[in-house]
Amino acid sequence: MLMKSASSLVAPYLSVSPAELFDKLEYPPQKEMGDVSLPCFTFAKQLRQAPQKIAEQIAERINADQTEIHAMAIGGYLNLFFQADHWKSDFVAMASEENYGHSNLGSGICVLVDMSSPNIAKPFGIGHLRSTMIGNALVNLYRVTGHEVVNVNHLGDWGTQFGKLIVAYKRWGSLETLQQEPIKESLRLYVKFHEETDLEPELEDEAREAFALLERGDPVTLELWQYFVDESMKEFHKVYERLGVSFDHYTGESFYNDKIDAVVSQLREKELLEESDGAQIVRLDEKELPPCLILKKDGSTIYAVRDLATALYRKQVLQADSILYVVGAEQSLHFQQVFSVLDKMGYAWSEQCQHVPFGLMTFNGKKMSTRKGKVVFLEEVLDEAVASALQIINEKSPELPDKEKVAEAVGVGAVIFGDLKHHRQLSVDFNMEDAVSFDGETGPYLQYTHARICTLLRRGNYGALRGRFIVDGAHLSSDSAWECLKTLSRYESTLHEAVKDNEPFVIARFLLDLAKDFNRFYNSGKIVKDDADEAEVCSKLSLAAAVANVLKQGLGLLGIKAPREM
Ligand code: ARG
Repeated sequence: MLMKSASSLVAPYLSVSPAELFDKLEYPPQKEMGDVSLPCFTFAKQLRQAPQKIAEQIAERINADQTEIHAMAIGGYLNLFFQADHWKSDFVAMASEENYGHSNLGSGICVLVDMSSPNIAKPFGIGHLRSTMIGNALVNLYRVTGHEVVNVNHLGDWGTQFGKLIVAYKRWGSLETLQQEPIKESLRLYVKFHEETDLEPELEDEAREAFALLERGDPVTLELWQYFVDESMKEFHKVYERLGVSFDHYTGESFYNDKIDAVVSQLREKELLEESDGAQIVRLDEKELPPCLILKKDGSTIYAVRDLATALYRKQVLQADSILYVVGAEQSLHFQQVFSVLDKMGYAWSEQCQHVPFGLMTFNGKKMSTRKGKVVFLEEVLDEAVASALQIINEKSPELPDKEKVAEAVGVGAVIFGDLKHHRQLSVDFNMEDAVSFDGETGPYLQYTHARICTLLRRGNYGALRGRFIVDGAHLSSDSAWECLKTLSRYESTLHEAVKDNEPFVIARFLLDLAKDFNRFYNSGKIVKDDADEAEVCSKLSLAAAVANVLKQGLGLLGIKAPREM
């Protein structure tokens, strides 16, 4: 809203379109430098004038004929100050709309988000949690900005690890123990396999053979594989349900089995395939990358070739315009190789394939490795967070109805926010106590601010008042009210920024700013009191309601629920 209004007010002075100007506007780093600013350097050449001169001339004209904004030229920037009285009621009205901030930025563009993608027969890891939450937030963000979105769970349901598992099961497993605790038992077998290979390296060959057998469609091996898939899916669904995440497609790696030959033939026809030590590779020397392995010596397929088939399918069958791979930064080389091979195959759309990497997550300093069996079980993390949330709720609001349900929303929200409040590329050490706290930069703090506003609105009887009075800016005269309104008005451009950088973190930061601004306003004077003027109460509660609306929507984008009471 700030940016939009500024661009339409200023555009005529520069004879450009508001849309053109919109992209050039910035939020100044300091409040003293205005609410929005326009660097005039970009116009210097065309207007044959120094940037500062341009800024001065426009500022003078704006100040002569506008009362909505005041302009000031500083160091080549045109700094714009919104005149509060003119804007307050507009800002409240706008931020109260149900679809506030939504746009058609991406209309006609189909974005495919490859996310979550856990591996069958292994526990749902923390890396997969990050991918799920970041991916889910991106899906929501792309949707509200008007993109068509398809999200895909590229399950790790094929590959040599199944060979290992099958060998381990045959040697050290039993159906009985497997049926009791399928995931934990698979993990035990997987760890055992890696321990034993140190003593008996031939096990690796056996595993390769077992996987080759699976690829050839051996019925007994396939049946065992299917069992692992079914059991794992049951576990994954439990997690997705708790996190409130759903998928358009669960097409894992095995879905592409019958599409690999076509890729290999294409590579051969395009003369990109080369033999090296019996394996088939594509050289990527000119891209300064190591060669991409396509088929192993024994002809079995690998991760990379399945990703090539996957990309082709997504482009050609699902008609995706762009493909985002929300996967840990450690796979960055893999994606560079895959995209480079696509480029060499002549697919210019490889440019629209993008790896959206994220850093490592540790829990209280503990790293995890499936191979060594050092695993943090996601369900346990969620349970612990929910239990801590329940404890706090019991202390704070013992009378609250539906305490368990609220605690689930708060605990799960705490874990999600504990992740999304960081730049995705950073490594995160998750600390349970910090994440679940109701104060500080946490999910529960935002949820609590929202719930407090809901209570305030009930207590102030806002439902009845809002029909009787209109919002009057004069009742919102404090600095803190104006700061809060300006923050509210940044919501739409915040969504755009988050989409541009594929960064849910931008939303998380914005919500913290908004909650802090609101709490400053709220603490500056009692709103609902016996002798208060009803019209004034209504204006103030309208601002509070707008903040609650945006907090709820913003949390929703991140995949976090906003209970009305807590
Ligand atoms: N299952 C993989 C893993 O856990 C992630 C898959 C990511 N997606 C992709 N298209 N490669 O490492």
